[in-house]
Amino acid sequence: MAAIRILAIETSCDETAAAVIEDGRRILSNVVASQIELHARYGGVFPEIASRAHVEAIVPVIEQAMREAHLGFDDLDGVAVTYGPGLAGSLLVGVNAAKGLALGRNLPLVGVNHLEAHIYAHWLEVEAEGAAPARLAFPLLVLIVSGGHTELALMRGHGQYEYLGGTLDDAAGEAFDKVGRLLGLPYPGGPAIQQAARGGNPAALRFPRSWLEGSLDFSFSGLKTAALREIEKHGAPPQGRLLADLAASFQAAVVDVLSAKAAQAAEKFGVTAVLLCGGVSANQALRAAAAERASVPVYYPPPVLCTDNAAMAGACAYQHFIAGRRAGWDLDVVPGLRLV
Ligand code: KG4
Ligand code: ZN
Repeated sequence: MAAIRILAIETSCDETAAAVIEDGRRILSNVVASQIELHARYGGVFPEIASRAHVEAIVPVIEQAMREAHLGFDDLDGVAVTYGPGLAGSLLVGVNAAKGLALGRNLPLVGVNHLEAHIYAHWLEVEAEGAAPARLAFPLLVLIVSGGHTELALMRGHGQYEYLGGTLDDAAGEAFDKVGRLLGLPYPGGPAIQQAARGGNPAALRFPRSWLEGSLDFSFSGLKTAALREIEKHGAPPQGRLLADLAASFQAAVVDVLSAKAAQAAEKFGVTAVLLCGGVSANQALRAAAAERASVPVYYPPPVLCTDNAAMAGACAYQHFIAGRRAGWDLDVVPGLRLV
């Protein structure tokens, strides 16, 4: 059977990304143009700036993805695009670029849910520590931890999800970003806190953990407030040893709850493995704690496939493509789209 090649486009937040994926697994190209520097001065993503940066970058990024895949548009079998969740103005740029290409080249269009795409990063062929094997047996436990989401779901098959729990307030990545800002660290806070935490003592400050006993939900707002109080005590942005201890203690509090609940859910639902997904799954402390606590294997993609990219959207689109699902020309963006 001839290989199926999909060009995937992802513009849900602040990365303009395009990738060509073969048979849902092989990465022929994976281009990500990050806007981090544009947003850093605002300490977070500024929506209108994000949309405008996508408008500028989208065509060059698509051209680069095609060039690096050594393919022409006629070699493609379909065009896939993220239509939600995310920032409306950002999503619109990708959706319209994908429609234009699909219409112009008479190619089928596939709509992708960004949360499901984060899960499908695990189906991409990569050689890296922690990468999932080529064949994963269902059911699987999925922990999606990103800038906008914190969700635990049971995956019973391709496209079959059961919601188990989620955050009641801030997403895990959002907590990292907000506390990063309080600590005087650059945006995004996640990688900056991980870096600052090196050499810090995770038990130096006993930050609260919201266990929400009996549920698989999460809450990070109390932790954020506790971090703010501790930082305020010292007047000026913390430096040196204090910064390292604050970062390490905050990170430990987030990681503790995420890893414990993932392990608990894995046990409860008898899954074959735990899949860590989304930007926060790049966090080394989370990877280590989840692997230590769970009684089944824990997989995580390499960092570039944890944070937003189009390769994962291409892997996800392949499953929809082979199931015959196509988007119509009326495909619209859905900023609040959910996994289930
Ligand atoms: O998945 P993603 O790229 O975008 C969304 O869909 O939201 O996730 C971005 C989030 C940011 O909040 C960022 O701070 C966090 O992932 N992040 C990390 C790390 N790398 C990225 N958080 C903790 N540790 C990291 N190493
Ligand atoms: Zn994401």
